[in-house]
Amino acid sequence: MYTAEAPSNIALIKYMGKTDTASNTPTNPSLSYTLKHFRTRVEAEPLSNAESDCWEPLTLERWTAPDLSQKSSDRYLRFFNQLKQELGIRGNFRIRSANNFAPDCGLASSASSFAALTMVAGEIVREQKSSLVGRDVLAKMSQKGSGSSCRSFFEPWSIWDEYGSVPAEFPVKGLLHQAIMVGSEKKEISSSEAHKRVVSSLNFNGRAERARERMSQLIDAFQGENWEQAFAVVWAEFWDMHSLFETSMPPFGYMNEHTLAALAEVKSFWKEHGDGPLCTMDAGPNVHLLWRDDQRAWALKFAQDRPNLKVLSEEAIG
Ligand code: DP6
Repeated sequence: MYTAEAPSNIALIKYMGKTDTASNTPTNPSLSYTLKHFRTRVEAEPLSNAESDCWEPLTLERWTAPDLSQKSSDRYLRFFNQLKQELGIRGNFRIRSANNFAPDCGLASSASSFAALTMVAGEIVREQKSSLVGRDVLAKMSQKGSGSSCRSFFEPWSIWDEYGSVPAEFPVKGLLHQAIMVGSEKKEISSSEAHKRVVSSLNFNGRAERARERMSQLIDAFQGENWEQAFAVVWAEFWDMHSLFETSMPPFGYMNEHTLAALAEVKSFWKEHGDGPLCTMDAGPNVHLLWRDDQRAWALKFAQDRPNLKVLSEEAIG
């Protein structure tokens, strides 16, 4: 039995748009914070007489097995097959997976689940061929399964561009993640589909340049420990991505009135305190907050004082 675990990540400069779909090559560089408490665990059990691989939910105390649709488990197994071919893995396997975070906690599990599957393939190679596949090589392979998964190989930060993903360090670390839960219904438009659609927006012209510019603004803000500037850049960046969605032809979107109410609360917190959390959104309706370590008391109070918002803190989910 082979096992591996990988963390999730949240992007502050977003991956949106691809120059190549087969390899998930991103149109622009992205930067993410690794959410090391939110993990996917994958087990691969060799099958002696099976003609193909199969996927099953992993049942384990304190872990939640994903409820994968046929389409999703087919995508997962197709990617495992691709890994087996690229790495020269022999035999067929029963793949089991589970997350230590609930499916409705606002985090997509594709980054951690594709990263963990690639890592388990690396474990099989170590055993079958007595050879070690490097982390950067595995990250590059994982990218082909789901782009954002290649950032989950590094921490505390990861930067990913058309050449691959690398670890990054800034004076900013030990961040606390909260998700303001707005909706957990299945998305009508998956993030893979969003990548295809955004190119139809007139605003897509110049998108790569804007993302690059914000990446350098954000790095400057982190290095200069200018948190307010970091907030402004991250805020502008997710609005840019959501504007791409809403200006696509035809338009689509994820925000609802509860999203807007949650964003208004974040803004008024900043106004009141002259300080607050970084705030971002993925291709979904939920709002993600990142608080500095010295803001922990504020983070808990933010949640307590707003019982109308469903705020989940990292400790409670993980
Ligand atoms: C909005 O990595 O899920 O979360 O490569 O098609 O699997 P595929 O897409 P995926 O896209 C994630 C997009 C995002 C922004 C981000 O994480 O950078």
